[in-house]
Amino acid sequence: MVYDLILRRAQLHRQEHLVDIAIQDGRFVRISPDLSDASATREIDVAGRLIVPPFIDAHVHLDAVLTVGKPRYNSTGTLLEGIQIWSERKPDLTHKDVKQRALEEIRWEVAQGTLFIRSHVDVCDPKLTALRALLEVREEVRDICELQLVAFPQDGILSFPNGRELMRQALELGCDLVGGIPHYEWTRDMGVEDVHYAFALAKEFNRDVDCHCDETDDPLSRFTEVMAADTLQQGWQGRVTASHCTAMSSYDNAYAFKLMRLLASAQVNVVANPFDNIVLQGRFDTYPKRRGITRVKELLATGVNVALGHDSIMDPWFPLGRGDMLAAAQLALFLCHMSGYDEIQDVLDLITSNGARVLRIEDRYGIAEGKPASFLVLDAPSAFEALRLVPARLHVFKDGREIATTQPARSTVKGNLVTFTA
Ligand code: FE2
Repeated sequence: MVYDLILRRAQLHRQEHLVDIAIQDGRFVRISPDLSDASATREIDVAGRLIVPPFIDAHVHLDAVLTVGKPRYNSTGTLLEGIQIWSERKPDLTHKDVKQRALEEIRWEVAQGTLFIRSHVDVCDPKLTALRALLEVREEVRDICELQLVAFPQDGILSFPNGRELMRQALELGCDLVGGIPHYEWTRDMGVEDVHYAFALAKEFNRDVDCHCDETDDPLSRFTEVMAADTLQQGWQGRVTASHCTAMSSYDNAYAFKLMRLLASAQVNVVANPFDNIVLQGRFDTYPKRRGITRVKELLATGVNVALGHDSIMDPWFPLGRGDMLAAAQLALFLCHMSGYDEIQDVLDLITSNGARVLRIEDRYGIAEGKPASFLVLDAPSAFEALRLVPARLHVFKDGREIATTQPARSTVKGNLVTFTA
């Protein structure tokens, strides 16, 4: 048997021994400690490097990426000024502008191994310009990346003129998921209704739900519990994601633990966004300053599925970033105190298997015989080293096809060398 491709001496996450991996017709067909009896059209000796399934960006805003500085830079760096700048930029959006920026950013993510992306799309725009553009992008990138689109009401469902109808139109046009933003509505009651409306649409259109929820340091912002209750009442377990939930880091422990157990029983996923969370939260504090990222470690311990998003890449909220989910995972490791040895292994799951559960793509995700051969070769031998070094993604494969390669940087130290003797 001559396979299409064999990877020799591959290290899989959490496995003790190296394996050889055979790929045929776009799928993993044999994974074995030794395939020396087999050959392939192409063979790659990965020499003990880590092979992982593609990274997943479970939360990004492709309509806003790469707009930093236009029309102006965020001078305070705050979330609220970011929203203000975005509302100034929105009327100038064009179909072509949104498409060009989104396609460019998707190329950045793909080059770094992210092949599944969930993007929120602002639908508080009577023309739905960004949504129409991203619906086209979703189809155009199918060969390199699977894109899910969430109808996201940036300025509120109830607090924005015609917000309910715009959400409905977004779903009719083909949005994959229903979003929400309860903490941003004018009143607590309107926030509760924001969540109820999202779930009503989800039921009507048979869609999953992913709301921005409690993205604030306000300890009294408590809409994640409403999402969990609606999930249970509607029977939507496993189909709901609460994004950000930064207020959870400001709740008192008694309430936080009650909430985390409720989320676990409702099988609600939580997505944290380390770049934006650490930059945007804590802005009203003097010292001590809150970190403003949700309780990732404690949620995992309670049995809640947690994944990560990049959220912003060079936009009014976060001016930096290069679309690298491994860098997001490394930052989460620092911010969430997940530096224990086993916890470091868990951090890699936040951008791989846990993300797959959020996006509900587990049937076609992972390194196992019979699954599509989509994977990355990292220039590191383990999750520990990958999170220490944030190394190059040497090869990126989708369905058995190589779609990106990166040469690792190499440094040379010149001048007189100091010799150490033991
Ligand atoms: Fe977001």
